[in-house]
Amino acid sequence: MFDVVVIGSGPAGYVAAIKASQLGLKTLCIEESIDKKGKANLGGTCLNVGCIPSKALLDSSHRYYEAHKNLSEHGIKIEKLGLDLSSMMKRKDDIVNKLTGGISGLFSANKVKSLSGRGKVISPNTIEVTKADGSIENIEAKNIIIATGSKPIEIPSAKFSKNIVDSTGALSFDKVPKTLGVVGAGIIGLELGSVWSRLGSEVTVIEALDDFLPIADKDISKESLKEFKKQGLDIQLGSKVTKSSQEKDCVTVTYENQGKEIEKKFDKLIVAVGRSPNSEGVIDEGLNISINKGFIEVNEFCQTAVSNIWAVGDVVRGPMLAHKGSEEGIMVAERIAEKHAQVNYDLVPSVIYSHPEIAWVGSNEGELKSKNINYKVGKFPFSASGRALAVDQSVGFVKVLSDKKTDTILGVHVFGPAAAEIVQQALISMEFGASSEDIALTMFSHPTVSEAFHEAALASNNQAIHIGNKVK
Ligand code: FAD
Ligand code: NAI
Repeated sequence: MFDVVVIGSGPAGYVAAIKASQLGLKTLCIEESIDKKGKANLGGTCLNVGCIPSKALLDSSHRYYEAHKNLSEHGIKIEKLGLDLSSMMKRKDDIVNKLTGGISGLFSANKVKSLSGRGKVISPNTIEVTKADGSIENIEAKNIIIATGSKPIEIPSAKFSKNIVDSTGALSFDKVPKTLGVVGAGIIGLELGSVWSRLGSEVTVIEALDDFLPIADKDISKESLKEFKKQGLDIQLGSKVTKSSQEKDCVTVTYENQGKEIEKKFDKLIVAVGRSPNSEGVIDEGLNISINKGFIEVNEFCQTAVSNIWAVGDVVRGPMLAHKGSEEGIMVAERIAEKHAQVNYDLVPSVIYSHPEIAWVGSNEGELKSKNINYKVGKFPFSASGRALAVDQSVGFVKVLSDKKTDTILGVHVFGPAAAEIVQQALISMEFGASSEDIALTMFSHPTVSEAFHEAALASNNQAIHIGNKVK
């Protein structure tokens, strides 16, 4: 009998398993995906076909774009620039293999056992594991953590086929599509649309909503839309794909925009309209565990209605982000070990790895307005940052939202260089309950792009040094 059995080895599952073992619990992790050698392929969506390969391609494509477009004004001349896509893909695959292999190493070092097969919870203490060869093994556990993740949503008007692909397909095209359609201007659409646009594809993004990036602060959505368009993404808002047909070497897509029917041909079409939780067939229906729109229902501690069965990561409510799943995994392992852990769901940071990056933590203006919270805004543009100008990345701004009365920081929103890193600074300060004055009174290194966070905090109280405040 294991103390803990984790089903799924993505960032929620493998982190939960390592933590549980570190806490002295006898732990097994079951993973259905298998590698070429027939062993459990660890790491889940994030390491294999998500966070890591997408960031590897974002970096490579950015370097190519810079070399192609932006180096001449630095006085750097490149003759005969070329693109070797297979080497770019090999680099990405090598990084993925290194990291997924690293998890096996971490499991060994932390005494986590792994088992390859598809897990199904059939009783509060039993998991039925179906192996690749069809054989079945029942495993007994005192506690079960379900971390089965999510999968791309398929839409009836653009079913996956040879040239209509999900994010996984879009991470391994064997040549740069001349024309590329992307359905959905969400995080995947923008990140992978940017990758292929930088490598030379003519990219059209077809988004159903009239608003661009409604999850972000409205100023960021507005500014970033301009920048994405400038970078060559043709973003068609308020557009609904009604049909598509797969032809020999292309796809014909029909979509409606403001009552008009538009037909376009693309070499490839990426469908990125969100992800749905992997909960089907994971829990026996006889168990008293509710599933709501595919999400396994849990309380704030990720505990299901059966007290020794827990669920974490993409398969439960909340943002589908690797770090959110990992923190839930740690919380659950600690609670099984009778510790008092919790996750602060108010401070889950978000990052879109575009260039420049978009990142935020806490509430945005729309959310504060809807909650009738009185707030003040401190904003600082990167065009006034010496470092941002020196590194040629002066687009965007830092925006600090703080409580009008108490000055406590309620949200920080960044569009610009190193936005992801600046938001981690904001996140730490918010975890400690900082006010904008606390940041204003902190000394930042010069010249850094982080100074824009300092200046935005100063601007919250009309005290910024490097922009014209109103002198009373
Ligand atoms: P998953 O990573 O999906 O892992 C679930 C695992 O469970 C899989 O290995 C699956 O094979 C296994 N499994 C499923 N069912 C069973 C079963 N019955 N038995 C055994 N095993 C099973 N998030 C970020 O935070 N930052 C990013 O930059 C980022 N980039 C992304 C880019 C892309 C292209 C995509 C698609 C996603 C990205 N995400 C990113 C989201 C991130 O990948 C997910 O939030 C994260 O992987 C969820 O972790 P998880 O452990 O819950 O599930
Ligand atoms: P998403 O939810 O971010 O965006 C989907 C977009 O598609 C939305 O704008 C939505 O309005 C639109 N849409 C939905 N149905 C449509 C239709 N029929 N036609 C046209 N548009 C339609 O989902 P996405 O981009 O697929 O990513 C899934 C999740 O993966 C993200 O929400 C995020 O949680 C995670 N992710 C995180 C990343 C990061 O942290 N940097 C990177 C990539 C993914």
